[in-house]
Amino acid sequence: MTGATSGLGTHAIRHIAAQPGIRFMTGARGSGRTVPPGVEIIPLDLASLTSVREFADRVKKQFGDARIYILILNAGMQNASNDLRSADGYELTFAVNHLAHYLLARLLMPRMADRGRLVITTSETHDPAVTPIAPHLYAPSVLIGKITNS
Ligand SMILES: NC(=O)c1ccc[n+]([C@@H]2O[C@H](COP(=O)([O-])OP(=O)(O)OC[C@H]3O[C@@H](n4cnc5c(N)ncnc54)[C@H](OP(=O)(O)O)[C@@H]3O)[C@@H](O)[C@H]2O)c1
Repeated sequence: MTGATSGLGTHAIRHIAAQPGIRFMTGARGSGRTVPPGVEIIPLDLASLTSVREFADRVKKQFGDARIYILILNAGMQNASNDLRSADGYELTFAVNHLAHYLLARLLMPRMADRGRLVITTSETHDPAVTPIAPHLYAPSVLIGKITNS
């Protein structure tokens, strides 16, 4: 699970980790948060695709031949302008919420169990009809950091 250290994730992790027979791993960026006892933490900063790849490698190594039954992509952030960039130069909200999670899902998909579940927490924020803020106001070229907003 990503985003288990705050908000909705904190509540979800309490319920899921309390189930018998569960091995629970979460990616966290070391911001001093706490997780329930027994939950394994692996460093993950979704603002860096290198960190995503390192996280996926460590999950695979620690799981060995075991399968992933549920992959929960819950972490998210929201920046109302396009002035922040990820380590790779992409608009930060787009990079964290979409690119990093897409890459993570692709990297871990081969380790999913048959009939395993991919759970994605999303938001109406992406919908211009609901919330008129970034990143949908920006052209793809802006989101990938090549030119400034015009
Ligand atoms: N709250 C709402 O009203 C609402 C409404 C619609 C949708 N959602 C969606 O629900 C999900 C959870 O929302 P929430 O309100 O519970 O959020 P939150 O309390 O702000 O928690 C966000 C989580 O994402 C993690 N995160 C953020 N940036 C990260 C990064 N660069 N690398 C690794 N982890 C990162 C945070 O880690 P740290 O502990 O390190 O900060 C935290 O665990 C999000 O996807 C959000 O879009 C929320």
